[in-house]
Amino acid sequence: MSKNIIKHNYSVTRQDREKSNNQNSFLIWFTGLSGSGKSTLANALELKLHEEGIRTYALDGDNIRKGINNDLSFSPEDRTENIRRIAEISNLFVDAGIVVMAAFVSPYKKDRKKIENIVGKDNFVEIFVNTSIDECEKRDVKGLYEKARKGEIKDFTGINAPYEAPENPNIEVITDNETIEKSVNFIYNRIKEKLKK
Ligand code: ADX
Repeated sequence: MSKNIIKHNYSVTRQDREKSNNQNSFLIWFTGLSGSGKSTLANALELKLHEEGIRTYALDGDNIRKGINNDLSFSPEDRTENIRRIAEISNLFVDAGIVVMAAFVSPYKKDRKKIENIVGKDNFVEIFVNTSIDECEKRDVKGLYEKARKGEIKDFTGINAPYEAPENPNIEVITDNETIEKSVNFIYNRIKEKLKK
């Protein structure tokens, strides 16, 4: 489809934008079960970075699926398309010189690998929010586990759809018995060098 499309190069580059923002830009990707705490951690991390004057943006599964991706279901194919679009959107933000937080279940390894290919390995930090299914189900903030157990939601990750845990994430937080503050500080300490210009 892109056969007759020829890329146009603009004069202002990512490097120029990073320089005027006085920061490096990259993508911080949170993967984990629904209710694992991805959005909560992404939100707390963004707040911390924002307070330091870092230019940020957050992309979140629940929000994105109400807008640009409201045509997608939770079938494996649609999840793949969901993640592909977010990776491309993230890539634009990274090109704009911004640090992106993305919180998506992203249950398939091959889809997460594709994000890395789209944004580039150096621009991608994968965070595994490792919260046990028992804990997620206990929290059940949105009441979705209860519905899934009753059979009211098909293809629910962790119940009747798979979650392929990352084997070598850049960062892993095990949140079952940890405060949000502790997890965020742990993540922050691991990325702070990468932020500096
Ligand atoms: S992903 O699998 O395609 O990456 P995404 O992160 O966009 O998922 O959306 C997940 C959110 O949608 C969950 O946090 C939950 O609130 C809601 N949701 C609704 N149905 C499902 C389902 N079948 N599986 C997982 N999450 C679901």
